Amino acid sequence: MQITLESKPFAALETEALVAYVFEETDPVQGRVAEIDRSAGGLLRRLAKSGELTGKMLEFTLVHAPAGLKAARLLLIGAGKREQFNSAVLRKAAGAALRYLKSRSVKNLAFVVREGDATEDSAQTIVEGALAADFESHKYKTDKKNDKRIESIGIAGYSEAERAKGEKGLAKGRIIADSQNFARDLINEPSNKLTPTILAQKAEAMAKAAGLSVEVLDEKKIADLKMGALLSVAQGSVEPPRMIVITYNPANPKPGAPVIGLIGKAVTFDTGGISIKPSEGMEKMKYDMAGGATMIGVMRALASLKPNVKVICVVPSTENMPGGRAQKPGDVQTAMSGKTIEVLNTDAEGRLILADGVHYAKQLGATHLIDAATLTGAIVVALAGVNVGVFGSDQAFTDKLLASAKATGEKMWPMPIDEEYREFIKGTVADIQNISSSKGAGATIGALFIKEFTGDSPWIHLDIAGTAWHDDAKPWLAKGPTGVGLRTLVHLIMSY
Ligand code: BES
Ligand code: ZN
Ligand code: ZN
Repeated sequence: MQITLESKPFAALETEALVAYVFEETDPVQGRVAEIDRSAGGLLRRLAKSGELTGKMLEFTLVHAPAGLKAARLLLIGAGKREQFNSAVLRKAAGAALRYLKSRSVKNLAFVVREGDATEDSAQTIVEGALAADFESHKYKTDKKNDKRIESIGIAGYSEAERAKGEKGLAKGRIIADSQNFARDLINEPSNKLTPTILAQKAEAMAKAAGLSVEVLDEKKIADLKMGALLSVAQGSVEPPRMIVITYNPANPKPGAPVIGLIGKAVTFDTGGISIKPSEGMEKMKYDMAGGATMIGVMRALASLKPNVKVICVVPSTENMPGGRAQKPGDVQTAMSGKTIEVLNTDAEGRLILADGVHYAKQLGATHLIDAATLTGAIVVALAGVNVGVFGSDQAFTDKLLASAKATGEKMWPMPIDEEYREFIKGTVADIQNISSSKGAGATIGALFIKEFTGDSPWIHLDIAGTAWHDDAKPWLAKGPTGVGLRTLVHLIMSY
């Protein structure tokens, strides 16, 4: 899709659809919307008077062949109250406008930024919203003849003096959205098309093309390194595991600067193993590699954005299958760190592979750890598809991440990991057990298990089980994989 900045007057833009966002206020026809209204002979004021145009959040008002404008259509999209307007609203408005017009077979549009909004951030936000909204999961449909396509977008309202900033934001937005969609593509793949081996190949190809160092450990190397927790999950599958390591090295690293470790759970299919899951809805468990895909996507973005901090991405990948060789409830495993684990439920496999993932990231030199994982059903109960659950061992580090989440419009909510919960996973026959002996706090227990392997390093765990996949479409996003977490992590790393 082509995206350019347009500096022509709005009325002169030859486009299939001129799009402007409108605030919910006493007079919604103000500023640049009033400017469009003057060209259109007072049409918008009349629509506002009649109550059809109110500016309510995501209200669509479509006018065909508006007199006085070169555009074939004028789309007004409600942006809610002006005081509550922020980049998250702008991103949704841009995305929702694209999907609304795309569904009506429109091929190009011009999106007007409002008075005062022609900044680098706005251009970035609009591009992020539009490209994420454009993503569909039609890959395996053979009949493409009814596929609709937006071919080009103009972003209007940047003066010549504002152009350089706009261009910069546009380029950044494209890198971030393309990386988010890259992750979403991986998450969308069914497990027969994306085994740990294939995921590793795709990660390797991306890393090489982007100029990142990459190493893929095969089952032999994983065994040599004594990654017993990862191996225990993998042993039930005919597909061998992989440990994917991608490294970004800054050009001029500051001595003593932190080294960020990004660890992502990549279970390419989670049947539950011998503690097998119910069959209803099990097909969704192809998305159990979303944490890993998101981290790989983050690395793709960093390769272009070039932060001044070293980042090591570690993605343990395996299937979780029942079978003659599968681990059984009660089995004792030794993690790479040397800790012994009593596996009381083979479906709590994500924490097992992350145990070796975080330990290995530390061994490779990471000083600050962040993991992302579709870890627990409990986080879905607590936060549904709205917020990512955030667990952190270091308040300053966690606050920094939450600030990045806020800045990038990804909803995240802090969750507790008090020492009191530690008792729930104390082992009977081994050091620790992979599920709680008591009821409740399931998401915290999962987090606390991973924490056992992080030592004193500042660490954050993102439980994305509820947010990595949307069961229903939103006006601004297709149903399916979301790529949540990527924007926050890129923002956080760029802030170092
Ligand atoms: N991949 C699942 C987490 C999950 C469950 C995501 C349901 C979305 C919906 C994870 O491996 C898992 O099975 N967790 C168990 C842990 C339990 C056995 C302690 C869960 O949450 O049920
Ligand atoms: Zn599981
Ligand atoms: Zn899982």
